[in-house]
Amino acid sequence: MSSWWRDAVIYQVYIRSFADGNGDGVGDVAGLRSRLPYLAALGVDALWLNPWYASPQVDAGYDVSDYRRLDPLFGDLDDAKALIQEAHAHGLRLILDIVPNHTSDQHAWFQSALAAGPGSEARARYHFRPGRGADGSEPPTDWPSIFGGPAWTRTVDADGKPGDWYLHLFAPEQPDLNWTNQQVRREFEDILRFWLDLGVDGFRIDVAHGLTKDPAFPDLASREAGGMLDAATEDHPYFDRDETLAIYEDWRRVADSYEGERVFVAEAWVADASRVARYLTSTRLHTAFNFGLLSCPWEASALRTEIDATLDVLAAVGAPPTWVLSNHDVIRHATRYGRAHTSLADARHLYGTPVDHALGERRARAAVQLINALPGGTYVYQGEELGLPEVEDLPPSVWQDPNRRYKDHDGPVRDGCRVPLPWSGDAPPFGFSPDGATAPWLPQPAEWKNRTAAAEEQEPDSTLSRYRALLRTRRDWLNRGLGASTALEWLPNAPDGVLAFRRGEVICYANLSAAPVELPAGHRVLIASEPVEGTVLPVDAAAWLVAE
Ligand code: NOJ
Repeated sequence: MSSWWRDAVIYQVYIRSFADGNGDGVGDVAGLRSRLPYLAALGVDALWLNPWYASPQVDAGYDVSDYRRLDPLFGDLDDAKALIQEAHAHGLRLILDIVPNHTSDQHAWFQSALAAGPGSEARARYHFRPGRGADGSEPPTDWPSIFGGPAWTRTVDADGKPGDWYLHLFAPEQPDLNWTNQQVRREFEDILRFWLDLGVDGFRIDVAHGLTKDPAFPDLASREAGGMLDAATEDHPYFDRDETLAIYEDWRRVADSYEGERVFVAEAWVADASRVARYLTSTRLHTAFNFGLLSCPWEASALRTEIDATLDVLAAVGAPPTWVLSNHDVIRHATRYGRAHTSLADARHLYGTPVDHALGERRARAAVQLINALPGGTYVYQGEELGLPEVEDLPPSVWQDPNRRYKDHDGPVRDGCRVPLPWSGDAPPFGFSPDGATAPWLPQPAEWKNRTAAAEEQEPDSTLSRYRALLRTRRDWLNRGLGASTALEWLPNAPDGVLAFRRGEVICYANLSAAPVELPAGHRVLIASEPVEGTVLPVDAAAWLVAE
């Protein structure tokens, strides 16, 4: 049996911003179906779709009101079935996004919990608790919501008096489920089966590290809260708790009961690679996003340390790494890398300050060449193949991210990485929507006319053309070094600031130093992120080489 997921390139489709088929200004399944040939031509192996379920869309679909229906914004079940079938016909596997930590407050379960009142069975599926203080007016714990404000909201009882509080690690419209409740556990296994029966190839698990909470509900007190993008600490009251791992053992049994290899990828922002590895044994999940790499600055030593740590701990559990540079929650890497300070934390701090876009895009191209030579799989966040930057100057009047509501939220809004894709033409909507459609749900910058897929396709040196060539070359060499089974061997004597390693027959050089470097003699360049003159690799470029 092939283990396709061990070295797959997976394209993240942020569906509301990918392609709009029905002209309402929001991307949908019809739009995605029409662009499958583009994705197949790009050379990716699978698609991961952000949530498409019925939802009030308070958190862009991460607030699900019905897990077995599509939101009418995106289409219906027939569209979903057609997509699964057509994606497979294009050789693309399909991974859905499952949201088990919380539902929408409009989910039938939460509505019946509110109606049923304190102590009811319906409430036991969530975390309802009395408040503190003489009149219960203080939240049950000091936990903050990741979007800002407290993680608890007080309910009103049938008699109109203030009642119990319920937990929501995210927005108040996203109540947390109680995973010690057997109905919750059975329901999610059933939801997994519903979609597996329809033929999906796996699931990305939202907030995979958050499902179980300390039953004693202790205060955080001086402990670090752990935001969505921050590492959680050990023995944390709600993140990365041991009890969560047993849930995934049940899920793995469900996935393994299906034909073909159906897989999970965990979204787990935990302290380090060794904590990630706990989720990735052969009886738990298959893969997890590597957020260590995504958080790293564009610096050779930091990247090498992260790569080594990841390879070491994952080898011990037999899981392949995944390498990811951007997603719908973080500042795009073409922008992160365009400033003097390049880590994710720097980018959040420097949001809106001047950026050297050309530099950022050049480094982004080198970075993607680097990660695609590493053992394991990689992710492409839609638009990075066009070199898209973060849109940091969206006017506050168009912001949609629920974190915008809270003054104490410590990060920028996430709308700037979610701007609808430019496909063609000289003016918005750049082919995102059909002619005569409603304007895209977020405005696209006018200068994106040079960044459309159609414009970049014509340009042999564009980021899009280079991605295509890169992924083609990766496929060609998958069985000659770049595949899952080959180890990584660092080359001795690489100059400072240069990452140089061998994978079977292929050598990868990435020059993060301040000066051009000489490539090893007796080799030819298979592909490089920038033109290579003679045997000199320029600054902020990467190349793959093979012996002559
Ligand atoms: C992580 C998702 O990636 C993010 O977009 C969402 O807001 C939170 N989980 C809550 O579901």
